[in-house]
Order: sequence, then structure tokens, then C-alpha cells
Amino acid sequence: MSDVVVRYEPRGAVKELFQSTENEILLSGAAGTGKSVGALMYLHLACLSKPKVRALIVRKTHASLTASTLVTFREKVAKEAIAAGLLHFYGGSAQEPASYKYANGSVIVMGGLDRASRLLSTEFDLAFVDEAIEVTDEDLDTIISRLRNGVLSRQRLIMATNPGPPTHHLKQRADAGRCRLLYSTHEDNPRLYSNGEWTEYGSTYLARLDTLTGARYHRMRWGKWVAAEGLVYEGWNEGVHVIDPFQVPDSFTRWVSIDFGFTNPFTALLFAEDPDGRLYLIREWVRTRMLVEDHAVVIRDRLLSGQPRPRAIVTDHDAEDRATLERKLGMSTVAAKKTVSDGIQAVQSRLKVAGDGRPRLFVFRDALLARDPEMDAASLPVGFAEEVAGYVWAVKPGNKGGLKEEPEKANDHSADAVRYMVAERDLGGRPRVRWL
Ligand SMILES: Nc1ncnc2c1ncn2[C@@H]1O[C@H](COP(=O)(O)OP(=O)(O)OP(=O)(O)O)[C@@H](O)[C@H]1O
Ligand SMILES: [Mg+2]
Repeated sequence: MSDVVVRYEPRGAVKELFQSTENEILLSGAAGTGKSVGALMYLHLACLSKPKVRALIVRKTHASLTASTLVTFREKVAKEAIAAGLLHFYGGSAQEPASYKYANGSVIVMGGLDRASRLLSTEFDLAFVDEAIEVTDEDLDTIISRLRNGVLSRQRLIMATNPGPPTHHLKQRADAGRCRLLYSTHEDNPRLYSNGEWTEYGSTYLARLDTLTGARYHRMRWGKWVAAEGLVYEGWNEGVHVIDPFQVPDSFTRWVSIDFGFTNPFTALLFAEDPDGRLYLIREWVRTRMLVEDHAVVIRDRLLSGQPRPRAIVTDHDAEDRATLERKLGMSTVAAKKTVSDGIQAVQSRLKVAGDGRPRLFVFRDALLARDPEMDAASLPVGFAEEVAGYVWAVKPGNKGGLKEEPEKANDHSADAVRYMVAERDLGGRPRVRWL
């Protein structure tokens, strides 16, 4: 077998990861600092250097894992070794999850916690949880309970994440000394920073992060665990409002709401309304730089695929976009009730947990049909659940500060479409919907 040279220079937090011995490590940092590459490299090298090591790569959902972390593994971490035949991909079966199998008998099993039972039916030496901010404390405890394969002398849980609010259970876990938090910085990533200066790619990348606002700016640009100040939807609670999808009966009324955009994303949301008037955001299409006529195809073939015909399509007011959409879909639309403050109040009141212990607005965990690569590259929130965590009241200009009575007009595209939907249902006084 010919020699395979792995060129990798661990720096900063990742170097610490390689040198440290704690059972639990949390790599935390701004966007693009090299956390995923570093952790994946740690697993890869462990598997290459010892036979029969069992490692695990997980994210909250299977789809998010294959779209991001596994691409990084294949393209940036194990490329040479794969080409040299030192490991190969195994697609999995009904009983067995997907994995990379190493020639020496080591294996990296991978999957989403949405398929946890199959994934966690065996034992491991190492586990890597990417975007760990998405997983619950209980998820982590389940994974830890599987860390007892005993081939490596130390069984370790490695997590990587962008920061969230300081109250987040991961930060609390680190503060309580249960795991060691290592801060990863942009200088740690040789693609961004090399020979003591920012690379061209690095300067461009940071300039893009500089355009972020609010808590997201502090988290993604500087890696700080900060709370979002002045949240519009303070009642939002991921644990309550984001739910596992269920088979939605055809008898639930379907609705679509749309916020037009081109440079900003176009968003189309499919809701189902149950007999008690609860709204479920079941599918969501978010995409930049696409023509309305092409969005119409996505709406027809993906958003509405297999779904009963929506009762109405509620849209933003742009006349030309509406006309194009109506023509391409062969369905009429209704103009959204766009008054901001009563719309926001209506959404707020739906988010409140009612007497029956449930709110009146839910989001399916798998609602997002696809991620927008450009928005991901710019670390922008994609979809309602991500937007809402950073949807804040605008700050009054000048050094007096204080908050305005309107939200900051940024990263509010799905939020607007949700508001249109709720206004349509809850704010009266609109003429009857026309049918086509
Ligand atoms: N040690 C390294 N050597 C060369 N390139 C690297 C290294 N680490 C990271 N990179 C490059 O930087 C990119 C971003 O790295 P990575 O995906 O690990 O960042 P991250 O911190 O996980 O980002 P995010 O916060 O978005 O999850 C990689 O795709 C890779 O091209
Ligand atoms: Mg990452």
C-alpha cells in the first residue's frame, strides 16, 4: 500500500483538543473557525491509527448531517485516505446505519438523532456531535451512555457549536465543569489566516460576517455566548414550538403564505390548520436569487406535493410578482394584511401556551425543504425557527438607545410570512376570499 500523507496543522482550540484528556470537549466559536474539520480529523486519525476503533458522528437530524458535516468529512478530511482505499463508504441498510469502514477494522458510524435507535444500538469509543447547540441535554446523556467500547483507553465526547444564549444548556454544562469548553477563533483556520495575516479568502469571509446584526453578529463573528436583546417573540421556545412531524390528515385546512424576495430570500410557507384552529408550519421553502416563475414550480411540485389544495395563498403586495405567481400556479392569491404591530401581537398570542398546555402555532422539525447554500455561506438564518431566535426590536438611533415599536428589518423573511398567515386567520375585517 502506498503512503498516504495527511496534511493537517491543528491550531488553537483544535490543538488543545488533540492534547487534552477530558472526557467531554465543547469546541465553541464563530462561524467557519475550523471546528468541524478539527473534530472530524480527530476521529479520522484515531480510526486510522488503531484497529477496531468505533466512532460516531451525529447531528440533530440525518438530513442536516448529510448536507454539511459529511461533506466536510469526505472533501476536507478523509479525501486522500478514501482515494487510497484506507476507508470506504457504506450506505447502510434497514438494520445498520451508514458508516465509513476502515481497512483496519475501525469504523465511523453516522446519522441523525431523528434515527437514534438504530444509530445508538451499539457502543463507541468516540462520538462527535456537530452543531451541538441543536441537541438536548438528554440526547447528550444518551450518547454518553453508549461510550464504552473500550478499544481506546479514553472514551470521549466531542462537540462543536456556534454559541447561543448564555442560558443554553451547553454553556451551563461547560460552566458547571461537566465539559471543557475550548474557544476556537478565525485565526485558528489556516484557510482564513496564514503567516500572520488574513488570506484574501479570509478577509472576504470576515467582511461578510461583519454585515450580520444583533446577537447573531456577536455569536457568528466573535464567538460570544450572548442573549438576543429585545426579542420580538420572547414566548418562542424551541422545545415547545418545534415538534416532530406527524402525518397531517387531509381534513386539516392547508394555507400558503409568501414573502417575495430576490436578493433577500423568497419564502413560501405551507401551513395546516387543525379543527381547533392550531396552525402547523409543515413545509417551508426559502431561497435567494431565483425567479418567481421558478419558485412557482417549487411550490407546485414540492411545497404542495401530495397535499390538499390550499384554501388560500396569502402574499406580499408586489403586483408583478403576484401576477406571475398566479399565472404560473393557476391559483389566485390574496394580499396579506400587512400592518406590523397587530400582526406581531397576533403571532405572540399564538405562541403563548394555552390552558391545554399547548401553543396555537407549531413548526415541524423537518419543515425546511432545503437549505439555501448562499445564506449558509453568509451564516444567515434560514427558515422561521432560525430567524425567530434573532428577530429583535429595532434600536432607536442616537446614543439614547431604547427600542422602537417595530422589529429590525433584517432576517425577517419567514417571520413576515408567518405574520401574514396569522393575520389572515386572527385579524378580522377582510373581505371574503375569492376562488379561481
Ligand atoms: N486546519 C485546516 N486546514 C485547512 N483548511 C481548513 C482547516 N480547518 C478548516 N479549514 C477550512 O475552513 C472551512 C471551514 O471549516 P469548518 O467547517 O471546520 O468550520 P466550522 O468552525 O465548523 O464552521 P461553522 O461554524 O460554520 O460550523 C473548511 O471547509 C475548510 O475549507
Ligand atoms: Mg461546523
